[in-house]
Amino acid sequence: MKLTLKVNGDQRSAEVPALKRLLDVLREDLQLTGAKEGCGEGECGACAVWINGQLVNSCLVPASQMEGGEVVTIEGLAQGGVLQPVQQAFLEHNGAQCGICTPGMVMAAEKLLRSGKETTDANVREALAGNLCRCTGYQKIIDAVRAVGAAR
Ligand code: FES
Ligand code: FES
Repeated sequence: MKLTLKVNGDQRSAEVPALKRLLDVLREDLQLTGAKEGCGEGECGACAVWINGQLVNSCLVPASQMEGGEVVTIEGLAQGGVLQPVQQAFLEHNGAQCGICTPGMVMAAEKLLRSGKETTDANVREALAGNLCRCTGYQKIIDAVRAVGAAR
């Protein structure tokens, strides 16, 4: 199929099999390798992007469901090479180690921050509940997100 969708504000298109996973379309056809594959089964959140404004695991979404849709990936957050505050906070709080979970964590965290909800410990934990990290023990990530929330 010819897939046409908006990615990070740009109209993009690609010839892809209808059942090709959005994660693979992004990484292989659109050269956006920020979203990562962890489990490939919808469990880890490493592949999370925003689809039509919702946080979604892109490994579970076939291309055929994306026609005319709108996607924001981690590449769409940094503007002009300048990191978003939440990305900067991950750096400063050592919230990233191997980095596989980081793009999905940042997309989930930014979603919470933009929702206007308070970044209480409970709200941050709930917002990141779908994102698994095998490296950091989570506390540094939570500290990073809460620091950004406190500064807003
Ligand atoms: Fe998609 Fe794990 S790779 S949820
Ligand atoms: Fe390695 Fe989170 S930093 S999985």
